[in-house]
Amino acid sequence: MSALIRCDGVSRRFGSTWALREVSLELREGEVLGVIGPNGSGKSTLLNVVSGFLRPDGGRVLVGGVDVTGKGPEAVARLGVRRTFQVPRLIEDLSLLDNVALPLLEEFEPDEARRVAEELLERLGVSRPGERPSRVPMADRRRAELARAVIARPKAILIDEYLSGLTEREAAIAVDALLELKRELGFAAIWVEHVISGLMRAADRVLVLHEGSLLAEGRPEEVAVRREVLEVYFGT
Ligand SMILES: Nc1ncnc2c1ncn2[C@@H]1O[C@H](COP(=O)(O)OP(=O)(O)O)[C@@H](O)[C@H]1O
Ligand SMILES: [Mg+2]
Repeated sequence: MSALIRCDGVSRRFGSTWALREVSLELREGEVLGVIGPNGSGKSTLLNVVSGFLRPDGGRVLVGGVDVTGKGPEAVARLGVRRTFQVPRLIEDLSLLDNVALPLLEEFEPDEARRVAEELLERLGVSRPGERPSRVPMADRRRAELARAVIARPKAILIDEYLSGLTEREAAIAVDALLELKRELGFAAIWVEHVISGLMRAADRVLVLHEGSLLAEGRPEEVAVRREVLEVYFGT
């Protein structure tokens, strides 16, 4: 069976900077693929290229075996891939709750859509779902954006930094909730984090990016002790 998402030698340059350099990966069904790396290592660029928000300068992106390279975000979304942004892009005129309910309105009555959205936000630990995005902490906006992605019942979710700004306890709840939703709904995820502890617990496999290139790949516990990984993180 073909991979849910596949990148073949994907590259992207900004001026003289290689934000991504010949990165290849596969996301399989139901899998959580963690992506870590220092600031500026290309994590967000990778998600932007996979989700169609950025056109790669080289290489190919396939979703469910379909070549979506350069086809744009709608084409990728139609194939069942949803995403979050490092800086959430919620609609400011709507409450968190209505932002999350929005994808359900085509299918359900507004009250029913809101009920589902409210339950989802509660499970993710968002305490004030009636507030506008700008009135809650960034961490709540991130979790609301994740809920908006999950509620669309995607095959895969691309997550750009979901845990930063949470306390250790909040992060533990957020990781557990996401894993539980994944088990219930069966989505796969490419999950980018800069703060890596929560992700290492959740990921089946981890990729490490450094200056746009793939530095290491493997099971979290293997990758975490690799010398080249410790070097880029801690400079040891
Ligand atoms: N829109 C952009 N214009 C110019 N440079 C960019 C842009 N997006 C990213 N970059 C550069 O590409 C590199 C990778 O950035 P990014 O993917 O955001 O890294 P990360 O998410 O790992 O912190 C960095 O050097 C960054 O400055
Ligand atoms: Mg980033």
